[in-house]
Amino acid sequence: MSPAYAAWLQKCRWACGSKCFTAGTNPSQNPTFEAVLARRFSRRTTLKGAAAAALVLTLGRAPVTEAAGRGTLSFRPITLDSADRVRVPDGYDHQVLIRWGDPLRSWGPEFRLQEQSPESQALQFGYNADFVGYFPIPPQAHGSSRGLLAVNHEYTNPELMFPGYREGDPEPWQVAVELEAHGVTIVEIAQYERGQWGYRTGSPYNRRITGTTPCELTGPAAGSDWLRTSADSAGTLVKGTLNNCAGGKTPWGTLLTCEENFHQYFGNLSGLDTSDPRYPIHQRYGIPTGRSERVWERFDRRFDVGSEPNEPFRFGWVVEIDPYDPTFVPKKRTALGRFKHEAATVVVNRDRRVVVYMGDDERFEYVYKFVSDGRFDPNDRAANFSLLDSGTLYVARFHDDGTGEWLPLVYGEGPLTAANGFNSQADVLVNTRRAADLVGATKMDRPEDIETNPVTGLVYIVCTNNTRRRWDQIDRANPRGNNRHGHIIELAEADGDYAATRFTWDIFLLCGDPTNPDDLVFAAGFDPSRISPISCPDNITFDAWGNLWIATDGQPGTFRRNDGIYAVPTTGSDRGYVRMFLSGPVGCEICGPEFAPDYRTLFCAIQHPGEGSTLTQPLSTWPDGTVPRPSVIAVRKLYGDPRIGS
Ligand code: FEO
Ligand code: CA
Ligand code: CA
Ligand code: CA
Repeated sequence: MSPAYAAWLQKCRWACGSKCFTAGTNPSQNPTFEAVLARRFSRRTTLKGAAAAALVLTLGRAPVTEAAGRGTLSFRPITLDSADRVRVPDGYDHQVLIRWGDPLRSWGPEFRLQEQSPESQALQFGYNADFVGYFPIPPQAHGSSRGLLAVNHEYTNPELMFPGYREGDPEPWQVAVELEAHGVTIVEIAQYERGQWGYRTGSPYNRRITGTTPCELTGPAAGSDWLRTSADSAGTLVKGTLNNCAGGKTPWGTLLTCEENFHQYFGNLSGLDTSDPRYPIHQRYGIPTGRSERVWERFDRRFDVGSEPNEPFRFGWVVEIDPYDPTFVPKKRTALGRFKHEAATVVVNRDRRVVVYMGDDERFEYVYKFVSDGRFDPNDRAANFSLLDSGTLYVARFHDDGTGEWLPLVYGEGPLTAANGFNSQADVLVNTRRAADLVGATKMDRPEDIETNPVTGLVYIVCTNNTRRRWDQIDRANPRGNNRHGHIIELAEADGDYAATRFTWDIFLLCGDPTNPDDLVFAAGFDPSRISPISCPDNITFDAWGNLWIATDGQPGTFRRNDGIYAVPTTGSDRGYVRMFLSGPVGCEICGPEFAPDYRTLFCAIQHPGEGSTLTQPLSTWPDGTVPRPSVIAVRKLYGDPRIGS
């Protein structure tokens, strides 16, 4: 087995429980996004061979608002790298802000590789940093020199955490450490002399939320029969949050942290009778019939579906946390649906209802949005905490004429009735994927982050890749079967109303290597030969000028080069001009790009450096030249206009 293939398999194991090799894929007959895209292409022309790349250019939408300007991007792009380091363009610098195991209390506990314990880990920065959110201090301020960083810890790589880790046969204390290494860290950070950042040990805000922290279930599904277990007969209190991938921030200053590949923590679906109504739901979400990769079910019966069949229903939610209140009990907001949540991006609509865009990151899964019943009140923070408990969940259908619609997932409407096994809104929310199948949502190529452009208001949906789509499944007009490199969709809600049920859409970016005609690279009309190679877009953010910043997850598999961060204007004559800004160490993905409010710092997470190897012979020794440690870094500009990208 080649090292690259081995690394890829290792990634599949821990990142998502090897979900592409297991059951649980979408069985519905709903149209795939690729089929829709193919029909759009075929209406305009027939793609064939090398001519395809040029013809794809005809898809470019006219620049939305020329007046929005070209943005400020002027850095000289870097190139793909395979060295074990962080690289940024000339004139920029980076520093490591906090690493796995760094203590959050003034007294420690210090990181000691050989003396790990769950008690220590619960007071230290967790593993595999993903989403990064900056919250200014005081709340609602716009200050950029002191704030809280909320960081997700998506999963653990035990082979890189514990010397001598035995595959499939972990020690009980190792499993306990891993549970405490999951979840979220809230940590206070401040800027010191010459703009350097540091985190404050001992800050009263510092907090860990882990795989064992009590969390409350709220909203329509809370307390339903689905959510009751032997440890929680009320169905309202869950131990912990797991696989917190990306997330979002609310306008009232809370964190949304998203439970993604929760299925991998559970095993023994075969312990449940196949006639049990819960069986097909767990199957649809990919819970293995036999042992799980992590075998946690051996140590904690709540992870054994045969023993505790409802426990998986208590994961796969969006969790809201007030970072300013260290005593806040995290809330799993069931109104936002249950699936493999990547991120949750909140926008306040012009009528002050809040809209949350969300992707279900699995091959052939769907794009969702939630529209609140209540309205955001900028003068009543406490009142806003109930906004995500009541509203309408929608799923997207993309039509082949460039229009689309948001289909409501409401009990009693359309097919969501007793005839199809739905007897309440709780049923719809617990089994969101099945509800979305029935209303006819469009199957997508792994929807990851979604963001709204602060300048144009358009919505950007990242589809990271979908290698499952075989070439023999698509017609010749489909330019992106075996979608290795992913793409980004640009969506305009009808009349600019985020609560609208109709939209138009177009392709913004088809990623790949522009020098490879087979990749059919398309960059919003920009000459592809002039852009940086980019593959597997995952997390995105916008700067104040409407430039899109893209972090990648998968370039070691596609380009045999390290993942990175790219910037691309969305308007003006440089629209589509993709430039590489940052390259990470070996084996990592880059997550959570997040600007400080003054845009003079770009924070991002370096997740799983060295993945695909073990501590005996690690592929990465970043950041300290010893063991690889997932970390958050801060990037700043050294000269001239201090704003990143300028
Ligand atoms: Fe955890 Fe969808 O990446
Ligand atoms: Ca992700
Ligand atoms: Ca984002
Ligand atoms: Ca990803």
